[in-house]
Amino acid sequence: MKLPASVSDYRALAKARLPRFLFEYIDGGSYDEVTLNRNVEDLRAVRLRQRVLRDVSEIDLSTKLFGKRWAMPVGLGPVGLSGLYARRGEVQAAKAAGAAGVPFLLSTVSACSLEEVAASGNVPWFQLYFVKDQGFAADMIDRAKAAGCGALVLTADLPVPGARYRDARAAGGGPRRWMDLAARPRWLWDVGINGRPISLGNLEKVVGRRAPLAHFQAWIHANFDPSVSWKQVEWVRNRWDGSLIIKGILDPDDARQAVASGADGIVVSNHGGRQLDGVASTARALPRVAEAVDGKVPLLADSGVRSGLDVVRMLALGADFVLLGRAWVYALGARGGPGVAHVLNLIEAEIKVAMALTGCTKISEIGPDTIDGG
Ligand code: GLV
Repeated sequence: MKLPASVSDYRALAKARLPRFLFEYIDGGSYDEVTLNRNVEDLRAVRLRQRVLRDVSEIDLSTKLFGKRWAMPVGLGPVGLSGLYARRGEVQAAKAAGAAGVPFLLSTVSACSLEEVAASGNVPWFQLYFVKDQGFAADMIDRAKAAGCGALVLTADLPVPGARYRDARAAGGGPRRWMDLAARPRWLWDVGINGRPISLGNLEKVVGRRAPLAHFQAWIHANFDPSVSWKQVEWVRNRWDGSLIIKGILDPDDARQAVASGADGIVVSNHGGRQLDGVASTARALPRVAEAVDGKVPLLADSGVRSGLDVVRMLALGADFVLLGRAWVYALGARGGPGVAHVLNLIEAEIKVAMALTGCTKISEIGPDTIDGG
């Protein structure tokens, strides 16, 4: 089989192989998807500055973050339900990330539990939602400590869920769902039959191991906490002495507050255009946040990254590290763990070419000067 050449090829393959409700969940954004599209378009519109004859025979993509050297400034961002995109999908993705020397971030609402993923040999960073059930949150922090997670990532931009029209259209059971599944025999065999249990592993303690997926979804809906404030950040900070990252910051004032609240890192993000539609793209927000944070903590960025060129663009706009979301999940849905490994190879090769042609031989050389501002 000819391998996909790009993330967009992986998207097409994932669309052909996944049940509709899973493809729509990963591909879609909120409302009219204005921000989802802006993320991609604004990033693509960033013009890189071509430089020549600068001896780019030795290019070093490695970078340090939270006391560790990573093979490149890229990680697999937390994506809920990603373990359903291939058999025990988060375990496969964690292994691919480990082999590539990049971090894997596990979502609270993953299919595989934190302990199952940690047992793969690559202990993930753990992403935590603020939930109403504070006992659950406290227990998850203890579990992340016990597993040895290198960082805890608090998602701040989901006090309420954004409306996702595509999810609503693809939802529901009955004959249509069965026809959808029957049309995807490869997925049905790989995940639906051999990938059981189909649950959200981290929630099994509170929902029940054999509960239907609908019960897990009901728990999530009952646990969105609109009362969440910086007080809860303090609460988490007091319980977690490792690296603490706040994810979902777009505004410079919020970024300053995050630093003041003891965050060790910030993810500049609009949740992949899945929350408030109409907000700025990450590409737009990033330079403002970078100016406000002024190097006090590292900045990670996500939303709209579909290539290694986009990674370099994010770094040029002020990020220190970039998280992939849809890009790795399309690959997981298309080809499982080998797909994730391959997409990481593609991204790495694309970063290298972009660095060679912008005359950068180290990640630290990529910055505002790498942008053609004319
Ligand atoms: C969850 O974080 C989602 O965006 O669906």
